[in-house]
Amino acid sequence: MRSLRSGFSPASLLTGAATLATLGALLVAAPAAQAADTPLRDLAAAKGKAIGTAVTGSKLTGTYGDIAGAQFNWLTPGNAMKWETVEPSRGTYNWAEADQIVAFAQAHNQQVRGHTLVWHSQNPDWLENGTWTPAELSTLLQDHISTEVTRYKGRLAAWDVVNEPFNEDGTYRSTLWYNGLGADYIAQALTWARAADPSAKLYINDYNVEGVNAKSTALYNLVKSLKERGVPIDGVGLQAHLILGQVPATFQQNIQRFADLGVDVAITELDIRMQLPAIEAKLTQQAADYKAVLDACVAVTGCSGVTVWGFTDSDSWIPDVFEGYGAATPYDENYVPKPAYHAIATALGGTTTPPTGACTATYGVTSQWNTGFTGQVRIACSGAALSAWRVSWSFGAGQRITQAWNATCTQTGTAVSCANASYNGTVTNGGSVTFGFNGAWSGTNPVPAVTLG
Ligand code: XIL
Repeated sequence: MRSLRSGFSPASLLTGAATLATLGALLVAAPAAQAADTPLRDLAAAKGKAIGTAVTGSKLTGTYGDIAGAQFNWLTPGNAMKWETVEPSRGTYNWAEADQIVAFAQAHNQQVRGHTLVWHSQNPDWLENGTWTPAELSTLLQDHISTEVTRYKGRLAAWDVVNEPFNEDGTYRSTLWYNGLGADYIAQALTWARAADPSAKLYINDYNVEGVNAKSTALYNLVKSLKERGVPIDGVGLQAHLILGQVPATFQQNIQRFADLGVDVAITELDIRMQLPAIEAKLTQQAADYKAVLDACVAVTGCSGVTVWGFTDSDSWIPDVFEGYGAATPYDENYVPKPAYHAIATALGGTTTPPTGACTATYGVTSQWNTGFTGQVRIACSGAALSAWRVSWSFGAGQRITQAWNATCTQTGTAVSCANASYNGTVTNGGSVTFGFNGAWSGTNPVPAVTLG
């Protein structure tokens, strides 16, 4: 056993049996209080709104499946219905994950938003790299839409038919479809989708269209002209991949102007990313931002609901795509509801939040390179408090701690134990403490389950 940080004050170390017993009592109070909360889907249903999440089919078991089924009344397949997934080589279809998600939704009395039929991204190589005449391209698109929409006919409540058609300045994005077929590919796609399943609501979906701006105005003008032409269009999806503290001031006004066109508005991919680490002040701001988005949707009758793009930070696309950012969803990596979860519940009329009597520890990797990584553990209390703490876990994949700060950490074999430093043993009710460490890894670096106490 080696001590990795000097300067530890034994006075604050959790040694006495009485202190341990107190701590244990504080910790066990947590699950019961949380279980008493009304699920988000019940709160949303009472307001006539959808509350959805994007999901990954392979994860729909255990805690992930329990939460997805219990808390949400809509599901969107995160990747399972994209062209590269369903037809990876020409004429060879793979519906396994999409079928699984639709079956899960039916079993849990949930609606499904199909995502997505026409996009510039996540297309199979054979399609993207092929040389096609406009007539061939048109046939390919019609066949794709007819095949996929027909497969799920009568079982999906909505389809994101066209995804991300605009540039930031409101001009059409240069894509396989636009370049080959012109802007009317959008009207054609909607018409083919309607023919294949007349009961699904058909949407155009885009990002950076949450506030009133050049891009959302282009989308507005498109929807208006499609309606005037009699092209089937039922809704617009505002993705809402937002940055902490940057909910547009015109969000509600923008939702309202689309609703006034006579189409449904859905917030389809909400997440609110922050620069890591996810300290308490940022999580509090994030809760306010989530509440602002939910409030805007609740305030407009034509807003059908809100879908989050992954409900847990362990199933979010943000860290992969936005370097240094993360913690964008309402649950942390260990499925503990964050302040954002309680903000959603509050906006939907919930009253029993947040839970009482809980202190929890949350482990996260904040950066990782070829041989090393930086980790962080956050101890947060709500309705409880600590005067000293110790967090333990097991590094099952051979990771080693090399240096720690704001805690004294020791590692014996795979067992790691970190106790508070002299100055940060106190975690107040509603407060949190964070410590960090550097480690070495090779092969894999999975997130361990941590124990507080
Ligand atoms: C993302 C998925 O979440 C990732 O797993 C995938 O690697 C890339 O695509 N806008 C969309 C979604 O419409 O389909 C994207 O989903 C996120 C941005």
